[in-house]
Amino acid sequence: MRLTLGMINFQNREEKDNEDTRRDDSCRGYSYYKRDMGVYECISSQTKKNRLSGSVVMRILIACEFSGIVRDAFIARGHDAWSCDLLPTEGPGPHIQGDVLSVLDDGWDMMIAHPPCTHLAVSGARWFKDKLLEQEEAINFFLVLVNAPIKKIAIENPISIMSTRYRKPDQIIQPWMFGHGETKATCLWLKNLPPLISTDIVDGRVARVHRMSPGPDRWKERSRTLQGIADAMADQWG
Ligand SMILES: C[S@@+](CC[C@H](N)C(=O)[O-])C[C@H]1O[C@@H](n2cnc3c(N)ncnc32)[C@H](O)[C@@H]1O
Repeated sequence: MRLTLGMINFQNREEKDNEDTRRDDSCRGYSYYKRDMGVYECISSQTKKNRLSGSVVMRILIACEFSGIVRDAFIARGHDAWSCDLLPTEGPGPHIQGDVLSVLDDGWDMMIAHPPCTHLAVSGARWFKDKLLEQEEAINFFLVLVNAPIKKIAIENPISIMSTRYRKPDQIIQPWMFGHGETKATCLWLKNLPPLISTDIVDGRVARVHRMSPGPDRWKERSRTLQGIADAMADQWG
């Protein structure tokens, strides 16, 4: 048996053809659903129900996400969403731990990507001259993601040099537009997706992330996607 992303290819087809669903550790507790002769895929039971009832279900890749927050927002709305990160996922759910570049060709309907911004964000401009090689790698990584063979793409990053090295973002959003009383300008570059509409404009204009105390996990606290933004993505793009 070979696991490729969500797809399971049973080599011994005769043995498995009569089964519609199976469970297996390699599928992380998700159902196997018979999709084609001898080919099974890992999907949640909710996704299976939605498909059977005729709801539109997309296969969605949340690239560079360890938190699972955007992934779970799409799963809650019945989609077949997978996070992918070099790190393990923080919450249980369908996750590919590894290099996202190796799974871009695997038939996704949509990708939402959160590439690292350490060498791109203008807030770190004073270090750019010492990190030219790392910066070129980060630019290339961003460009490979944005040019992935996926119909609907959203790339998220802070205010960064990608506005000049690629193009201006389609939209700049703030947490306070989505129910979180704080500021953190976040750019979205969009392909075949509409700009997000604010869902809950609230008071509060404090830059919470700049006030976080130092520590090994500070970058994680700063980079985790906010729930209100994840919900808006899933409601408006799902
Ligand atoms: C800015 S953080 C995004 C965090 C995200 N917003 C979340 O809520 O989990 C960037 C992430 O990209 C991941 N990353 C970097 N290079 C990667 C690669 N080649 N493939 C997959 N993930 C990668 C890092 O491990 C890091 O977790």
